[in-house]
This record gives sequence, structure tokens and C-alpha cells, in this order.
Amino acid sequence: MVRDQIEKVAVIGAGVMGTGIAQVFAQFGLAVAQTDVSEALLARSKERMLANLEGLVVKGKLAKSEVDAVLARIVQTVVVEAAAKEADFVVEAVVEDLETKKKVFGEWDPICPPRTILATNTSVLSPTEVASVTRRPEKCIGMHFMNPAPLMKLVEVVPGLLTAPETIEMTKALARRIGKTPVVARESPGGIVSRIMVAMRNEAVDILAEGIATAEDIDTAMKLGAGFPLGPLELIDLVGVDLHVTNSETMMRETGNAKYRPHPLLRKMVRAGHHGRKSGRGFYTYER
Ligand SMILES: NC(=O)c1ccc[n+]([C@@H]2O[C@H](COP(=O)([O-])OP(=O)(O)OC[C@H]3O[C@@H](n4cnc5c(N)ncnc54)[C@H](O)[C@@H]3O)[C@@H](O)[C@H]2O)c1
Repeated sequence: MVRDQIEKVAVIGAGVMGTGIAQVFAQFGLAVAQTDVSEALLARSKERMLANLEGLVVKGKLAKSEVDAVLARIVQTVVVEAAAKEADFVVEAVVEDLETKKKVFGEWDPICPPRTILATNTSVLSPTEVASVTRRPEKCIGMHFMNPAPLMKLVEVVPGLLTAPETIEMTKALARRIGKTPVVARESPGGIVSRIMVAMRNEAVDILAEGIATAEDIDTAMKLGAGFPLGPLELIDLVGVDLHVTNSETMMRETGNAKYRPHPLLRKMVRAGHHGRKSGRGFYTYER
């Protein structure tokens, strides 16, 4: 049975996505090993999970007694071998940088058991290229969670050129098991969601830079006129202006299509340190 083959997952990275992904696996009863490069980052991730879970308790979506049980399913370690050697399924959620991801896959591949599936949570990079450093490209795949991972129902399953059909089915089954709806998007820069969202966000920046409307009015228009929970400029601030620029450049380079071109205003913002929420300033200012 597909389901029974995955009991232990490893999550590489304890940032925004690694935190949410580890939490949601644990909420659905899987044993999780989470790694990052420092104990301090892991501790901060666990604090964020605790705050998220307590938020669910306040909203009546999780029993108070469950909080400790969920956290107890997550073992944190900076020692790769400890996390890798028993993992049935690995989700890599390190920074969106191809060389870093290849280094991580190259490090984990020889330690993980032969059965282990190695998934990358990349938004716009190539799962085929990330898999190319391993001896198991048929067991490598993209598993793209949305932010915030515990809440967003979609998981894009992104097979690379050499991904085996069984790996696709096991990844879909795992996504369903943690309450998500999987959609399959064959490898192509940005899959479905990022491809559409990157182009749309850049269009919003063009509208702002052309002086057609204020940031507030652009976001209000898309929230009230198109039913978006957040406006496109608010979303860039949330994702990070710097990451949005890098992703746009990757999409433009990979597709050769200028529709993904980030407006020069975005580069100026990055150079000025206006990286969005995380820096306290992007299209809007934030209390830090
Ligand atoms: N933030 C989003 O909205 C979002 C949404 C979907 C997908 N993604 C993708 O998820 C991935 C992670 O994004 P994020 O926003 O969580 O980034 P982040 O910067 O918040 O976290 C990345 C973490 O990876 C860690 N890391 C770096 N090198 C490592 C290594 N060698 N081993 C272990 N850990 C390492 C960093 O210390 C950091 O804690 C990226 O590929 C990103 O494109 C992000």
C-alpha cells in the first residue's frame, strides 16, 4: 500500500516554508525530522510552530491537548545523517538557489535509504536539474507547497524529466494524506501558480510605476474586483521583493519571454533594502 510506505519524513530547512511543512506533516500524524544549519534557526522554527498551533487552539480548530503531541512528533537536528538515514520521504525547503539545492540533494542522496523520495519545494527552479546530482533521479520530484503551508490546500506535484510514475503517485498520496489537494504540473518554469502569479504581480508593479494608480488602489482593486484575499503588491511584500525579482529573472531566462520582466522599480527597491515585510518596508511600511 502506498500509504504505509511513508511514515517518517524529513524536512530540510526551518525557514518560512520548512516550518509550515514540518508542522502540517506532524499535525497529520507523521514522524518528522527537521534540519537546518543552526540550532538557533531550529529553535525559532519550533517557537513559530507553537504560536501557529496555539492560534489554531484559540480558533477552535485544534484541541489544546494536541499541541504538545504535534510538537513531540518533530525531532530537530543539525546532523544530516540523523535526519536522512531513516526518512521515507524528504522535502527540501532551503533557500531558492539552484547551487544550494543541488548541494543539499548531493549530500542527502548517499545517506538516505534507496526507497526514499527526495522532493524539492522550489517555486521556479528545475526539479530535473536538482535531481541531476543524485543517483536516484526517478525518485526525485517537485512538491510545491503554498505559503502558509498549514493553511493552503494546494500542493503542486512537479515531476522532472526522469521522475518515475510511482514517485508521482506516492507524492500525490502523501499530499492527500495531509489534507491537501494535489495537482500535477509537468516541469516548466513556475508550474501553474508561480507562472501566473509572477506575471500578474509584475503587471501590478508596471501599473504603479506608470503612475496609473497608487499601491493601495491597485491592491484594493484586485481584492474587491477580483476576489483576491491579498493584493498583488501586498503579496510581493509578503514573498519578499528580492525573491520576487530573482524568481521573475529565472522565469524570464528559462522561458525567453519578456512578460516575466521585473520592472526596474523593483531593482531599485532591492538596492535600497526595501525587501518587503521582512525588512519593514516594501510597497508598504511595517512595524518590526
Ligand atoms: N516563502 C514563500 O512564499 C514560498 C512559497 C512556496 C515555495 N517557496 C520555496 O520554498 C523554499 C524555502 O523558502 P522560504 O521562504 O522558507 O525560505 P527561508 O529563507 O525562510 O528559509 C530557508 C531556510 O533554509 C535554510 N538553509 C539554507 N541552506 C541550508 C542547508 N544547506 N541545509 C539546511 N538548511 C539550509 C536557511 O538557514 C533557512 O532557514 C524556496 O525554494 C522557496 O522558493 C517559498
